[in-house]
Amino acid sequence: MPLPYSKKVLELFRNPKNLGRMDDATVHAVAGNPACGDMITFYLKINDEDVIERATFESYGCAANIATSSILTEMIKGKSLEEAWGISWKRIAEEVGGLPSIKFHCGILAVGALRRAIRLYYKRKGAAPSWMPERLTFEEKQALEEEELAEVLSKRVGGGGADV
Ligand code: FES
Repeated sequence: MPLPYSKKVLELFRNPKNLGRMDDATVHAVAGNPACGDMITFYLKINDEDVIERATFESYGCAANIATSSILTEMIKGKSLEEAWGISWKRIAEEVGGLPSIKFHCGILAVGALRRAIRLYYKRKGAAPSWMPERLTFEEKQALEEEELAEVLSKRVGGGGADV
């Protein structure tokens, strides 16, 4: 039975905005979701005032992930990094007309990848802003780096700890 996707999700899935690699990105982050093993890359072009001039993404995820990533790249264009950081996965789920509950993690992955890119940007600068939490947020923890994801998945395949 097909999933009850909203019209907007299907429209963005078929015709995503800002899809593709950005060669002159200021920063990018690759993140995968342990719930499904899908990966996403978020690219940001950031100016000297810490404002996002452009954002693109590559997704190896499902329709929900492509739709939420696409709308997120649109929502953060022209926003400060602080404003972009504050966008919750619930808000993007609303923007795409809602998500089936088994697809919430797909929107969480989009937000997590964006936040990982922002955190990396400040890490490279060597100074984290006061609004950024020191600890990883829930969304970042759900958007694992490639190595972490591979480890989680290999444990799962190996039967949860059969491997040494
Ligand atoms: S099922 Fe993996 S991103 Fe949607």
